Order: sequence, then structure tokens, then C-alpha cells
Amino acid sequence: MTKMVVTPWEVSGKIDYDRLIKEFGTQKIDNKLLRRIESHAGELHFMLTRRLFFSHRDVDWLLDKYDKGEKFYLYTGRGPSGHTHIGHLVPWIFTKWLQDKFNADLYFQMTDDEKFVFNPELSLEETNKMSYENALDVIALGFDPEKTFIFSDIDYAKTLYREALKVSKKLTFSTAKAVFGFENSSNVGQIFFTSVQSVPAFLPSVKAGKNIPCLIPYAIDQDAHFRVCRDILPKLGFYKPAAIHTRFLPGLKGPESKMSASIKDSVIFTTDSAKDAKKKIMSAFSGGAASLEEHRKKGGDPDVDVACQYLYFMFEEDDEKVKEIFEGYRSGSITSGDVKKMLVDKVTRFLENHQKKRERAKKKLDKFILTD
Ligand code: TRP
Repeated sequence: MTKMVVTPWEVSGKIDYDRLIKEFGTQKIDNKLLRRIESHAGELHFMLTRRLFFSHRDVDWLLDKYDKGEKFYLYTGRGPSGHTHIGHLVPWIFTKWLQDKFNADLYFQMTDDEKFVFNPELSLEETNKMSYENALDVIALGFDPEKTFIFSDIDYAKTLYREALKVSKKLTFSTAKAVFGFENSSNVGQIFFTSVQSVPAFLPSVKAGKNIPCLIPYAIDQDAHFRVCRDILPKLGFYKPAAIHTRFLPGLKGPESKMSASIKDSVIFTTDSAKDAKKKIMSAFSGGAASLEEHRKKGGDPDVDVACQYLYFMFEEDDEKVKEIFEGYRSGSITSGDVKKMLVDKVTRFLENHQKKRERAKKKLDKFILTD
């Protein structure tokens, strides 16, 4: 079996989410917390009930504060190394739900600085440009322009730099090495970078002149950054940010692969044509038996079938339908070809709609982008 690796720069192997909770020292999202979220939101997003969001830190503390009248804001981000693919949308879709339900501001960080210092192939101009391409996908999801602040690290540096300095002064090289595995050959931009990713976790508090609770939805591979961040912020007089963590959507090539733009045809980009998306889905990894005849007899495993997983985690909101599909797939009455066709339908409709909104977002960009 391949070894599990989950760091901000690499995700591979079979992911054991319970083990990550233990190793990273986070909390499992239990039913009690779900009920508490539901009592405020009026309902639960299926990404919560289906445990796509599976882990958290201090969300109970955050809701205690909320109950006492201290509203929180949201912070999330994107490393703009290329076009957005649908796996990236998972935390953003959920963040939009949180914005709506809790009427919360959102700070959205585009780490074009990070992608430049970590990726030998990318120029500063490319990552910076990609910040604004990716921002279109964020805007297309329907975030509130009055409450959503998107910024490129490079272009918002005047504001970010003075705050990042404060973080960097509390972070030693030996801690950065231990947490991120840096070596003597790592460039110093990489070593400094985590200071920048910490800033949006307290920037609104600086602006307001008082502490405001912060909730960060993120894929669990980003956790190293926020362990460091949570350690340092109290030393600077700020609250620790709360966090809520999502699993990874598998790549199209199989359950052990993260969606990665570097693996050919393993991802569906938001800019893909319906035709290309269909081609990719039809050749995706399937959990069915070796032949159709055998599948009809023995059934397949929806927990490893990529199309089933995409329907479950992202595209089929209806719990009843999901149950039907999974049971049918297990018994063999529904085939891999069937679930792929269902997914193609969903994805085609999604892409059509998203691409229209993405086009319209070009005119709205100014309303969302923070400058200094
Ligand atoms: N480093 C992240 C990435 O490479 C981008 C990011 C910045 C982020 N701030 C964040 C992601 C906050 C989640 C939450 O994708």
C-alpha cells in the first residue's frame, strides 16, 4: 500500500482521515456540533451531513462567541498555479453557504506569491494573472459583493507585509523546518511564506481595532500553516482562528489520487467544454466488476467508484437519490456506465451555468478586489 502523505505541497497514498485527526490534533465533527450548527443555520448542508467536512478546530468556541453576539468572519484562499478545477470549488461552495447562513464577511486570499516561490516553472506574472482568473470562479459561485474581499498577495502587499512581519518575528527557522520539512536548499521565500498566509486570520481585527473571531474552511492539506498560525496569533494579542476541514475529492483516475492538474485528465477544469468533461468522466476510474455480466451478478463498490463519489460529495444533493444510486450500484442493477452518464448530465449542466456566470463576473471583478 502506498504511504499516506498530507502536506501543503503533496497529497498522496490512501488517506486515513481518522489518523489525520489524531496526528494533526483536530476534532472530529460530531452530531452534537452538527445540531448546534443546524440550530443557527436552520438546516445542514449535505457536505456536513455526508462528512465531506469531517474535522474542525474550535467551532464550538466560535458558536459560543456567536451566541454572545460576537459575529465571526470567514477566511479562505487559493494558490493560483493554474485554472480552477471542480475539486477546488468544494470548500468555496461550502464557504458561500456559511456566508449566507451566518451573514459573514469573507476574506479570500490569492497566494500568487506562494505559487511563485514554490513552483520553479511559474513566473510572477503568470501566478499574478492567474489570481484574477481564479477570482472569476469564486465570484461565479455567487458570493455577496458587499461582504466578500478577494486579494492577490502581490497586489495587496502594502497592507499584508506589515502584518506578516509581526508573524515572522515569532516564527523561528527551526519551527518552520520541523513543521514544513524545509531543507538548506529551500529558498528563503518559501520559509517566510507561511507568515503571509496567517495574516487574513487577524487582518480584520487589526482594521476594526478589536478582536473578531475568524473561521477558516480549508482542505486538510493546509493544516500545517494554520497550526503555526494558531500558535502565534495569541502571542500577538489575537484570537486563534477556528477551522473546518474538508476531505479531498478523488482525482478521476482513482480513489487514491487527489485531483491534480499535473496528472493528465485527472481533473475537470471549470473552463472545460462539455465535450471534454464528458470524455474525461467516461474514462474515469470505476468501482464496478471486471465485466458487465459480473457486475450485474455481484455488484460494485460505490465507495471507490469515482462517479459515485462525485455524485455523493458534490453533484447529487438529494439524499434519497444518493441512497438509490448507491444501493443499485452495490446490487448490480446500476452499472458504472449508468453512474457515469448521471454524472455527465450533472457536470454538463453545472459547467454551462458556471461558465455563464464566470463570463459575467469579468464585469464585477472591481467590486470584489481589495487594493491598497
Ligand atoms: N495555500 C493555499 C493553496 O495553495 C491557498 C490559501 C491561502 C488558503 N490561504 C488559505 C487555502 C486559507 C485555504 C484557506 O491552495
